[in-house]
Parts: sequence; C-alpha cells; structure tokens
Amino acid sequence: MTYDFTTTHKRFHTGSGKWDELLKFGVSENDDIIPFSVADMEFVTAPEIVEALKHELDSSIMGYANPTDSYLDSVCSWMKSRRNWDAKPEWILNTHGVVDAFFEAVKTFTRPGEGVMLMTPVYYPMYMAINFTGRVLVDNPLINTGKTYAIDFDDFERKASDPNTKLLLLCSPHNPTGRVWTRGELERIGSICLKHNVLVVSDEIHSDLLMPGHSHTVFATLSDEVRDNCLVLTAPSKTFNIAGLQTSNIFIPNPKLREKYFASLKCSNPNPKCNILGYVASEAAYRGCALWLDECLSVIDANRRAIEDFVRVELPCVRVHDLEGTYLLWLDMRGLGLECRELERVNHEEARLFFDEGYIFGSQGEGFVRWNIACPERYIHGALERMKRVYSEYVK
Ligand SMILES: Cc1ncc(COP(=O)(O)O)c(C=O)c1O
Repeated sequence: MTYDFTTTHKRFHTGSGKWDELLKFGVSENDDIIPFSVADMEFVTAPEIVEALKHELDSSIMGYANPTDSYLDSVCSWMKSRRNWDAKPEWILNTHGVVDAFFEAVKTFTRPGEGVMLMTPVYYPMYMAINFTGRVLVDNPLINTGKTYAIDFDDFERKASDPNTKLLLLCSPHNPTGRVWTRGELERIGSICLKHNVLVVSDEIHSDLLMPGHSHTVFATLSDEVRDNCLVLTAPSKTFNIAGLQTSNIFIPNPKLREKYFASLKCSNPNPKCNILGYVASEAAYRGCALWLDECLSVIDANRRAIEDFVRVELPCVRVHDLEGTYLLWLDMRGLGLECRELERVNHEEARLFFDEGYIFGSQGEGFVRWNIACPERYIHGALERMKRVYSEYVK
C-alpha cells in the first residue's frame, strides 16, 4: 500500500453530524466506537489533495472563483479515463452538491402535482425532493431476490407510461442496495423513458466506487437520443472523501435542457458559484489520486469480504447483500425477528452499532441496515464481535 488507510482523526466535536450523533448515546472518545452511517469515509485525505490546498492557501487570494479551463479539463479527462466517456466541458454546471442539483432538476422540469419516479428502497433525500416540492412519488419497488435486487420492468413501464409521470430520479450505482446497473438494464430504462417522454436525472455520485468485476455505464453514453434526454450528476466528493468541500459537476449535454436548468438555478441561487478550495481539491484529486482511489477500493473490498466471511459462520440470521458498487453494504436483519424500531434500539443501546437503519430508505428497507464500510478494518472486526454477542440473545 502506498497510502495510509489506517490512521484516523478525531471527529467528535468537529461539526460532523455523523459523529456528534453518537454523543446522544453516551459514546465517548475513549470507546473506540465509530459511526457507520452517513456516507463519508474515515480515511484521511490523500496527500496530493492536502498539498494542493496548502499551495493554494500559500499562494492565492480567496476571491470569487469560476471553474478554470484546467479544472474542466481535469473533470472531462477523468470521465474519459475511468468511464470512457467523451464528455464536453461546456456540458458542465457546478453546484454545491448533488442533492441540491436533483432538487433543482425536479423543480425545473416538473410542476407541482406531477409524478417523479423512484426505484425503491432508495437514498432518502430523493423522497424529500418530491415531498418538499409538492410533486407526486411514483414508486417502482425493486425486487429483492435474496442476495441482490432486480428491476420490475413491467411495473416500471406501466408507471412511466402514465402521462403524469415526468421524471425519473435514477440512482446509479444504487444506494442503498449496492447495485451497479448493467448496460442492458440501463438501456431498457433509457428506451422506456424515451418512449414515454420521461426525463432521466441520473445521480452517478457513486460511479467511481466499484467492486472488482463491475463496471459503470454512464447513462448519457447509451445513445444520442438518451444523451439528449438526461442529466448526469457527478462529484468527486464520495470518491475522494471531500464532501465538505461541496463541489459537484452536473453534465447536461442537451443545450435546451441546460439553458432551462441554468435559468432556474440562477433563480434559486442568484450567484451559483462554488468554493475556490473545492475546485482546487477536486482538480488535484482527478489529476493525481487515481492510485489512492484504487487502493481505497481494495480496502473497502477487504472489509466487505471480512464481513461476509464472519457472517457466514457466526451470524446466520443476517444476510449480506452483494456489494457491486458504493461502500454501503446492505444487510437483511429480518432473521432477528425484531420490528424495525426495536432493531434500531438494540443496535444503538445494546450493540453500540450506529448504522443507517433501513427504514429511512423507504418501507422496503424495514428490517435492513446500511453499513458504511469505508473505515479501517479494525472497526469492522470490533462491530462484528458486538453483533455476535448481542444478536445471539435474540436468535435462540
Ligand atoms: C446517491 C447519493 N446522491 C447524493 C449524495 C450526496 O450528495 P451531495 O453531498 O453532493 O449533496 C449521496 C450521499 O450519500 C448519495 O448517496
């Protein structure tokens, strides 16, 4: 390993919501317990990013900043080298986050009362983008096949063909199920949406986080028609653990959609600029941190294997879903026979385990947990031992 994936930094009382949540449960800094919830990593920042930020602080003035040509080139070069996507710099708009971006897309391209489709269970702010804006949820539940999830295409087409359904918020790769949609699945989604005039907003924030044997297809690469019927939302934030720098790259190849979106964005936020340090860190990451990412993925994959191996032998009541992408492992805990709020209580109070409980991703998530495994391996082992000790009381 070239990089350090074992050192951790103190995060209590630093403004990390993920960590400070633990204080409510009486966890202290001496307990060696970490939260496995919110999707940022417990790994220290790649030195290339730290150096670029230090250099910027030493040598520049912190004025208003637009993305430079060099920044945009770094983003497009990354898309070419990692995804074989010939994205153009002029397609990119920057926002402070992907959540901001999909909220804006829902507001721009649909009206109150119109339908927005989700494939559920799904990342909970996607429900918020619908509920907070007075749109209507069009629910396309995924089919749980035991170890993974499949798309119910009959239901999908039936719902997409309703003239009130205007937009699909696609999570690709999928949080929380860990699915990386295949090209074939995405092609079917793309053609059904084209046929029924449903715009696709493809949230691809997790698309760099792929487990061995899986590859990501950018939605806009499926065909020229599909490209002109979608927005692709990306960011280096998950990939390089720089979410606090709030810099996202929103690709809108179709100029009409892009103009409409930008006009709407300017109404919500009259000065839609990102932070100068966000651009610096993102460019440093895209230009210099490919090896850091590859090593990071190997640590995540080792954590996944450690969990699967342990659960197979010691926790037969728990079912680990296949992790194809993201660092968010989806575990079916229904074998414990606990109602979902009771499962949460047992995890927090007895096992001192702070996952994201599955019910927050929709009713199909009840009885599941989402485990953020982007952390040094020792924390995984500690958590597994606590699971074994506490869960054995419930499965007699
Ligand atoms: C699917 C998905 N989209 C967006 C985000 C957050 O994006 P941002 O921090 O850029 O708003 C997350 C974070 O967990 C996510 O899982």
